[in-house]
Amino acid sequence: NIMILFGPPGAGKGSHAPKIVEALGGIPQLSTGDMLRAAVAAGTELGKQAEGVMKSGGLVSDELVVNLIKERIKEKDCAKGFILDGFPRTVEQTKMLDAMLAKAGDKVNFVLALEVPDAVLTERICGRWVHKESGRSYHIKFAPPKSLGKQAPSVTTMLDDETGQPLMQRKDDTEEALKSRLEAYHSQTVPILAHYGPAGIVTKVDANKTPAEVWSAIEKVVGKAP
Ligand code: AP5
Ligand code: ZN
Repeated sequence: NIMILFGPPGAGKGSHAPKIVEALGGIPQLSTGDMLRAAVAAGTELGKQAEGVMKSGGLVSDELVVNLIKERIKEKDCAKGFILDGFPRTVEQTKMLDAMLAKAGDKVNFVLALEVPDAVLTERICGRWVHKESGRSYHIKFAPPKSLGKQAPSVTTMLDDETGQPLMQRKDDTEEALKSRLEAYHSQTVPILAHYGPAGIVTKVDANKTPAEVWSAIEKVVGKAP
């Protein structure tokens, strides 16, 4: 069971992933964005190469991310399948993924595309706060943590519900970087849908609704996923 969770920045991929993982029996979510941010935080060679590009909202090189995924899917927990979040991002990455899977007799079974108009994404992205370790994301208006009472949002009022640790904002969650991220999405990522279209495995979900409504739509189609 190999699924691609597809959608623009702020579509809700990361927000819905934990529930999709649960619905699909615990197969792991592999987010190249999370992996890259972990490499940046750890100060590895890879992290140093990726940091600047990520901050400005550009795409990291195909080779780099394909290698990350290639190594990750060799791990034991990926044996029954996995959910790709934020990968592939270019048609080139898609072809490399297909080739890599074909070698093992596998292929992508399901592409879930979350659709949200660009105009809605700025508010979602600029109001996002994340718990770095778990990857849980919140929103000052749409999904506030319990710690946020009536005070203005700040690092002392934005705390993770489960651990009580402070939440942070992502360096690329600025209006300026979002412009580049959206440009990259439309020019380089959207063509991936045409690549998988003929296989009949793409399902689109209207994600310009409340999180609960979006989840109920996802739940219906994920249940039917092979
Ligand atoms: P990545 O981490 O993949 O970021 P992204 O694609 O820009 O996606 P986001 O994480 O911003 O969106 P999301 O859909 O997960 O949103 P979320 O659910 O949190 O990539 C970051 C960077 O890494 C890239 O720019 C690139 O540089 C590099 N990179 C990564 N993969 C790469 C690759 N394969 N190739 C090359 N480079 C790569 O939701 C957002 C906010 O909205 C949250 O606050 C949430 O609470 C809120 N929200 C969610 N749903 C709703 C709703 N229905 N209503 C209201 N608010 C909502
Ligand atoms: Zn994400």
